[in-house]
Amino acid sequence: MYLSRSFLTLILPLAALPNAYAQNITDPIGRAELAMSALQKFYNAPTGMWTGWWNSANVMTVIANLAKVDPNPQLQDLAARIFANTAAMGPAQNFDPGAEEPFKKRRIASGYTKGIDENGIPFTTYPKGWGTPEYAAKNKKFKSRQDAPAYDPHSWLDGFYDDDLWWALAFLAAYDVTKKVEYLNLGEGIFNGVARVWPSNCGNGGIYWSKDKKYVNAIANELFFSTAAHLANRASDPNKYADWAVKSIDWFVASGMINKDGLINDGLKDDCTNNGLQTWSYNQGVILGGLAELYKVRPAVAYKDLAARLANASLTTIFDKNNILQDPCGPTCGGDASQFKGIYMRGLQALHEVAPDPTYVAAIKANADSVWNNDRDKANLLSIQWAGPFIDVANATTHSSAMEALVAAIAVKDE
Ligand SMILES: *[C@@H]1O[C@H](CO)[C@@H](O)[C@H](O)[C@H]1NC(C)=O
Ligand SMILES: *[C@@H]1O[C@H](CO)[C@@H](O)[C@H](O)[C@H]1NC(C)=O
Ligand SMILES: *[C@@H]1O[C@H](CO)[C@@H](O)[C@H](O)[C@H]1NC(C)=O
Repeated sequence: MYLSRSFLTLILPLAALPNAYAQNITDPIGRAELAMSALQKFYNAPTGMWTGWWNSANVMTVIANLAKVDPNPQLQDLAARIFANTAAMGPAQNFDPGAEEPFKKRRIASGYTKGIDENGIPFTTYPKGWGTPEYAAKNKKFKSRQDAPAYDPHSWLDGFYDDDLWWALAFLAAYDVTKKVEYLNLGEGIFNGVARVWPSNCGNGGIYWSKDKKYVNAIANELFFSTAAHLANRASDPNKYADWAVKSIDWFVASGMINKDGLINDGLKDDCTNNGLQTWSYNQGVILGGLAELYKVRPAVAYKDLAARLANASLTTIFDKNNILQDPCGPTCGGDASQFKGIYMRGLQALHEVAPDPTYVAAIKANADSVWNNDRDKANLLSIQWAGPFIDVANATTHSSAMEALVAAIAVKDE
C-alpha cells in the first residue's frame, strides 16, 4: 500500500550521468544537484527517514539548505514534497513520543539508547526493526497516543534533547523554504517542550543531554541556543526567543565548555567542569550558526567577536594541512560521528552570511572541491573521508554530511 507512485517521485529526476562527465563539473549547483539525486536513493518514503532518527533530521536540513540557494523549480517542488512526507510519516518512527512531558511517570524502555563508548565516540542503538513500515505499524507507544499527528510537537520529542532540537531546526529550515506555518509552529512547539527541562544542575542553567539527567553536554546546549536564535528571527514573539538565546549563550560561555584553545569539548563532568572529551567538528559549528542568527536580532558586536574567535580556533586546528575538515575518529566514526563534519560547514556558511571572511570562503571551497574530486564514487555517493580516497561504504549519513560542503559552496560561489 505504501509503494504508491507518488513515493517514486520523491527523487530528483536527473538523468544518470557518466562519472567522467561528473568529474568535470565545477559549477557548485550542478554538483549539489547530482548529490541530491544520489541522496534520494536512500530515502525510505514509507518511513520518512533516510538513515537514523536524528541523522534524518540533518538530512532534511541539508535538503532545505540546498533549496535555499538553488532556485531550480524541480528541486523546490521536490523539497516541499519530501518535507511533507517526512512530517507525515516520521512520527510513527519515534520510539518514545512526548517523553518530555512532566506528567508521564512510568515509561517502558524504548530500545533506543545513546551513549559514549570507551574511546569517547558517541553511539546510538535502535529498537529491533526500527526504520521500517512494520515498526511504524507495531509502534504501540505511538498508537497509544491517538493524538500524535505530524504537527503535534510531542510526535517529535523523544527524551533526548539534542534529537528533539535537530528536528526543530529541520522544520524551521523547511519553513524557510516553503513558508508553511505548520513547520514554524512545530519548531516552536518542540523548542518549548525542551525549554521545560531548563535548568541543569550546572551553573543554574543549561539543559541535560536527555531525560535521564546524567550528562550536561555541548551539543544539546548549542542546539538549544541555536534553535532559540532561529526562532527569534521567525516566531511571532521574537523577544521571548531572543531572551532565551541570550540566556543560553551566556550560560554556555560561563559553563567552561569552551576550552583555553577556543575549542568546545564534548561536555561537563559531574562536578560541572569541562570533561576534556573530543572537540567534535559539530560542536564547533552549531554555535556559529546560532551566533549568526542571534546577531541578526540582537546585533551586539560581542556575538560577532565570539563567533570569529571560535571559527578561527577551529579553522586552525581541526582542518588538515590541505584545509580539509577531519574529526578525531577519521574514517571509523560510526553512525553518529559520520554526520558531524557537514554540520560544521553549515554553521560556517551561516556565519559567513552575517560576518563575511575570505578565510571561511577558502575553507568552504577547499572542502567542497575535495569532497567532489576525492571522496565520490561512480554513483556520485560521498563517503566519510572528505580528503579522500573514497571509503566504501558511503551511506545517507556520510553522503548528506559531505553534501553540506557542496551546498555551502553554492552560497559562496561568486566570491
Ligand atoms: C573532462 O575534462 C578533460 C580536461 O579538460 C577533457 O579532456 C575531457 O574530455 C572531459 N570529459 C568529459 C566527459 O567531458
Ligand atoms: C587565529 O588563530 C591563530 C592560531 O591560534 C592565531 O595565531 C591568530 O592570531 C588567530 N587570529 C585571529 C584573528 O584571532
Ligand atoms: C555509514 O558509514 C559510516 C562510515 O563508512 C559508518 O561508520 C556508519 O556506521 C554507517 N552508518 C550507518 C547508519 O550504517
